[in-house]
Amino acid sequence: MSEHRGRLASVHSQVATYLVRALSFTAVVMTFVWAKKHNTVNKYLGGMQWDEITLVFNYHPPFMVLGFLLCFGWAITSFRTTTLEKPVNKNLHVLLHTCCIVCIGIGLRAVWKSHDDPDASSIGPTANVYSLHSWIGITTITLYAQNYLLGFLTYLFPEMPIAIKKMYMPLHVVLGQATFACACAAMETGIVEKQGFQGGCSYNPQGKDENPAVNYQDIPYGCHLSNGIGVVILMTMLCMLVALNRDADSKPEQDNLKNNLSEGLI
Ligand code: HEM
Repeated sequence: MSEHRGRLASVHSQVATYLVRALSFTAVVMTFVWAKKHNTVNKYLGGMQWDEITLVFNYHPPFMVLGFLLCFGWAITSFRTTTLEKPVNKNLHVLLHTCCIVCIGIGLRAVWKSHDDPDASSIGPTANVYSLHSWIGITTITLYAQNYLLGFLTYLFPEMPIAIKKMYMPLHVVLGQATFACACAAMETGIVEKQGFQGGCSYNPQGKDENPAVNYQDIPYGCHLSNGIGVVILMTMLCMLVALNRDADSKPEQDNLKNNLSEGLI
């Protein structure tokens, strides 16, 4: 019975892992479309240009989603890919995390460039790190940086005693999951904040709004898209919970993490 439950949980986890990858890829494509389309009347972001002060911000959303949803999401599910050898999974894990860091660098540089350039707005430079979104963002980045550094030191140095590797692993895993949850919160609040700055992602109902589904067509297409990105990010997060939960139901000898550690593969 418990073996059956273990296998079932494993199937759930595998399916959820593939969903995480497909959904995160979809969110990235949608965010690039949102950022790149020029039609600002329809509430798209208006294009991406690094040297154009009004458009440099538009690198921030797609690169944060590419880094924190796709690269990070694929990295933390890399050990769930049973078709590859463990050392390959481990290299993929490190490589994807490194790509994530590059994307975060570009995304953050873009938002700071757009805030701090004296020409950034007609009323002068913009305030930094004042919003709930930016605080969740800073928390996410801090958690991510410490987990990357400690993970790097613990698991990429062959001299590190196996006892320390084993001791740190549960914390490394739970902090990774917490960071992913924070990243999703940051992306969701970022989208809502940007929609607020843009304005116009609503409609004026004629009388009591009894059937919102009918009136929803009245909001601009760019808002349909940005709301859609938020929904896909939420779905990715939910699938991630299932994808990473396999070990709760599996038998100890099926536990990849423990096997990897005892074989010295992590
Ligand atoms: C995990 C992903 C994200 C992280 C870690 C993050 C982090 C940050 C940080 C730290 C700031 C403050 C920059 C400053 O004050 O100079 C910021 C600003 C901003 N972000 Fe994000 N961001 C993320 C995703 C997004 C997304 C997807 C959007 C969608 C449009 C977005 C929209 C904004 C906006 C509008 C600002 C400027 C206003 C403000 O400072 O709050 N962010 N972000």
